[in-house]
Amino acid sequence: MICSSINKAEKFRSIVRLVLQSFMFIILTSLISCSQTKDEKPVKVKSLKEAFEKDFYIGVALNGRIIDQSDSASLSLVKREFNSITAENIMKSSIIHPQRDSFNFELADKFVALGKNNGMHVHGHTLIWHSQLSPWFATIEDSFEFKDATEKHIKDLALHFKGVVDSWDVVNEALNEDGTLRNSIFLEKMGDEYLSLAFKWTSEVDPNAKLFYNDYNMTNPDKRQGAIRMIKKIQEKGIKVDGVGMQGHWHLDYPSLEEIEESILEYSKLGVQVAITELDISVLPNPWDLEGAEISQNFENSEEMNPYTKGLPDSIQTKLANRYKDIFKIFLKHRDKISRVTFWGVNDRQSWLNGFPIRGRTNYPLLFDRELKPKPAYYGIIGLKEKLDQLQTTN
Ligand code: XIL
Repeated sequence: MICSSINKAEKFRSIVRLVLQSFMFIILTSLISCSQTKDEKPVKVKSLKEAFEKDFYIGVALNGRIIDQSDSASLSLVKREFNSITAENIMKSSIIHPQRDSFNFELADKFVALGKNNGMHVHGHTLIWHSQLSPWFATIEDSFEFKDATEKHIKDLALHFKGVVDSWDVVNEALNEDGTLRNSIFLEKMGDEYLSLAFKWTSEVDPNAKLFYNDYNMTNPDKRQGAIRMIKKIQEKGIKVDGVGMQGHWHLDYPSLEEIEESILEYSKLGVQVAITELDISVLPNPWDLEGAEISQNFENSEEMNPYTKGLPDSIQTKLANRYKDIFKIFLKHRDKISRVTFWGVNDRQSWLNGFPIRGRTNYPLLFDRELKPKPAYYGIIGLKEKLDQLQTTN
């Protein structure tokens, strides 16, 4: 009897001890995570679009599964974080204008409605591009007929989306790396006039849409000079160009920050807006030091070329966050010249850089990870913005 009551008292004491210990543990860990939140995660801002509200649109490219709402998790993240959208593929000619006499507007109309219903800026990508080009263009032999068909292609699209597409990539990737004009079917059939005509035709139908020239490697000095020459030539004809799109398919180490800044300054001297239209930062080795985004290129996969299949090491995660911060420092410094910064994809899982320029790799180029969680780069750029705002209010 006595023995059993001693046992009971001891049991009671050990339970109390256990409860107290667990309580202390909970208090301590929550204190630690509170201080982590304070140091690493900004506490004031709820989203990217809120953080950069006064600076520029924060955009994102949407794939078909987000547009048709089958990927609802990504869709709600898009609504929470972004205020501008671009269609990653479904407004390219091969999809939206598959036959010469028929259009496929279904998904594009859903895309535009999504933007409008959520008060977003909607960007059209793209009217004239040699890639993902509808095959019927190449079947037209006669150059007059080709010109008429191209005019109709542009005008039909611009008319269909008049008033709902806020800005267009009128021409995409017309330049070679040395700044000369790319030998596309458009150049072949229409000569260099196709460039000014494309801008003219679009503005005739939708004078209020902002019209962009868009390309990759726009930071490379030779290509940059080519772009500037080309845009000046269009402007000299009295045809409007509203903006230059620097795609922004960049890497951890290049282009240099100086080249990025110089390019923003030089383009804006043309009297146009600058947009960063397809931002992603590859963390993977670059085969043959390939720069840019010529999508016809593809290389062999190997372990050396695909080193982070089991996750991104902390050191590279930090490097990526710092790279994003450095780049955003420049964007914020020139916020008066920059209209929009658009990321090419919502999260790392969907990024086209898992398949380009080598198929089947595991890349980590965006601000959200494969589970849609914000990465250190996300907190890095929002934290940077908050710090800059604080500095401004104390000065
Ligand atoms: C890419 C898409 O992300 C991929 O899904 C598609 O397979 C190929 O095109 N420059 C552009 C974009 O202007 O349209 C390209 O998008 C990436 C390079």
